[in-house]
Amino acid sequence: MVKLQFVELASRVQFPLATPKNMQKYTSAQADEVEKLVKPIYARIKNWAHGWLHVKNVAKAAEDLAKLEGVDPVLCKIAGYCHDLGRVDEEERGLVNPEPLALSHHAEFSVRSTREILQKVGIKGGDADQILEAVRVHNKRKYLGENKIAIILQDADRTDGFGKLAMLRFASFNCEMPVEEPQTDEDIDRELGEIKEMFKRHKKLCDKMVGILEYAFGWIDELANTESVKDYIKEGYEFNKKFLEEIESY
Ligand SMILES: [Fe+2]
Ligand SMILES: [Fe+2]
Repeated sequence: MVKLQFVELASRVQFPLATPKNMQKYTSAQADEVEKLVKPIYARIKNWAHGWLHVKNVAKAAEDLAKLEGVDPVLCKIAGYCHDLGRVDEEERGLVNPEPLALSHHAEFSVRSTREILQKVGIKGGDADQILEAVRVHNKRKYLGENKIAIILQDADRTDGFGKLAMLRFASFNCEMPVEEPQTDEDIDRELGEIKEMFKRHKKLCDKMVGILEYAFGWIDELANTESVKDYIKEGYEFNKKFLEEIESY
């Protein structure tokens, strides 16, 4: 069985997350504007696992978690929309590595694209700097600074590693299995059945998925930045657990 270990966890920093409601300076129209700008960029990504479907889910989770934690939901949603823009550059430069612990340059590439988007929608100064930092550090193992948007974005990104769709994303990206982007809930259920059959027939692939799922639990058990995220993905977390138990029995 493949078991991926985390390196030693750095000491935990307590973050002052509460932000008064009147601190919200931006409107959802600005987030909608960003959505319109980034959607065609994500459409260029060949592997759907980090395409628009993932980004839309992360942006929604970032907005929801921001509201729960008293952080500006619009800025967090915008960070969510921008965080994986660099996946396009990474693919185009042939730098994609599906190993969960592999060094990935996409966050750095995302910063450049995000800067252009923020300029277009008129987000500047400290707010822009916070979003840019959040995007830059989103795939680091654990963010230990005090940037609230970065705290939220890192948790939000990891929420998409739990639940039915996450199984298909891991199978497609990390296990490099022929899984198409699902369009409906029926597609998701059908494809889940298909990947289970593949895991039954291919022990190596199954072991790889087991390792990835065990690794993903660490995102919540060891690395969660907020308490809210644990509750937010409760159902998906239980789903991953059951899925893992099932494929371990093959
Ligand atoms: Fe990312
Ligand atoms: Fe992501």
